[in-house]
Amino acid sequence: MINKLKNSCRVCNNSIEIFMNFGDMPIANNLITNNTNSTLDSEFKYDMDVAFCTKCACFQVTNVPNKNLMFNNSYAYFASESKEMINHFYNLSQEIITKYLIGPDDYILEIGCNDGILLKNFSDQKIPHLGIDASSNLVEKAKMDGINVKCAFFDDISADEIENEYGKAKVIVLTNTMHHIENCNAVAKAISLLLSKDGVLIIEDPYLVDMIDLGSFEQIYAEHNFIWCLSSYSYLFEMYGIYINDVKHFDKHGGSMRYYFSKKLSIKSKEVTFYENVEKKNKINDLKTYVDFKEKSEKICSDLLKFVSDKVSKGYTVCGYGATAKSCTILNYAKITNNLLTCIYDSTPFKINKLTPGTHIPIRDAKLIKEDQPDFTILFAWNHKSEILKKERLTKTTWIEYIPEINEINEN
Ligand code: TMP
Ligand code: ZN
Repeated sequence: MINKLKNSCRVCNNSIEIFMNFGDMPIANNLITNNTNSTLDSEFKYDMDVAFCTKCACFQVTNVPNKNLMFNNSYAYFASESKEMINHFYNLSQEIITKYLIGPDDYILEIGCNDGILLKNFSDQKIPHLGIDASSNLVEKAKMDGINVKCAFFDDISADEIENEYGKAKVIVLTNTMHHIENCNAVAKAISLLLSKDGVLIIEDPYLVDMIDLGSFEQIYAEHNFIWCLSSYSYLFEMYGIYINDVKHFDKHGGSMRYYFSKKLSIKSKEVTFYENVEKKNKINDLKTYVDFKEKSEKICSDLLKFVSDKVSKGYTVCGYGATAKSCTILNYAKITNNLLTCIYDSTPFKINKLTPGTHIPIRDAKLIKEDQPDFTILFAWNHKSEILKKERLTKTTWIEYIPEINEINEN
């Protein structure tokens, strides 16, 4: 069930420095449906250690549950729950359509297409596209929206099948997916074989430097078994003849980076040089950086536990908003369980009425927060703060954020 990895880097095989242990962790998106005691007792957990590589700067979880335990017929995260993310990926689709999909045989392949948040823009305009995702419930939803999707893990076998049916891909995109993939070398190799010689590879996910800076350690969980940066991605893809050309930084998910790669070595934008320097300045290869990060993370956990315990002991109701995968990390690491938090509100139909992994907090329909009026609401979906606070402007509660420190949100 666990792929216990050797004490070496999953990218370059160099020895790694393990600097943090989270103890027993459940799988962040494995919400519990049936709350009989036997289901709760048999919940899958694994010991989560985190390390970085001094050679290629790859930040990684050392042991990762088998991918079938994480990506199956009940994956709980539906990217289209956020209107801001729908807009964000609409903008990316327009850029791809106008800049890259110009030849008659050009098509876009999205690896880990989730519910089709990006590809819907292509299917709506009848532009050749293909999605691949291993979670069948997401694939069903995407298909219902008219998107062309294959249900499989992306590997050398599915890459071959895709090439036989569609030819080489002009554009390959992975948004918030590459950090889910344990065997990054095999996938990078399969991508290099499938990408056409004038093709573009676009990857976007949470950025290591932002995570360290904010202390947003919650980005680390079983599915997020890497937190990538420019240095580690460049190292990985160069081994397969794919080179970084450009990067764009976004504030999404607490700071994300979009990377543009191709088989052309000669192109390197000023932005790439800028972020290479940012990574040097932020000492992403230095143990002290991570020891400080660990201390910051532990302080955030103990401050949040103290805050919640204090309010509950005074008789206040404390709830959460956003049953995010991220919240699984902080709740389990800080040991904030269902004896402290009454519930967590969420708008995702698939999550409602289930229990959070490990901490067994009930997930309640977000529509009900207006009538419940909890005294305090911890914003676990802090990366969607403006969208949620706008939507909930009439809700009577005191909103609390905790990254980088506990703060009562006063919007006005
Ligand atoms: P994420 O931080 O991993 O994107 O997860 C966000 C979670 O928050 C997801 O379960 C959906 C939920 N959510 C709401 O309940 N209401 C909202 O308005 C938004 C944007 C997200
Ligand atoms: Zn390495």
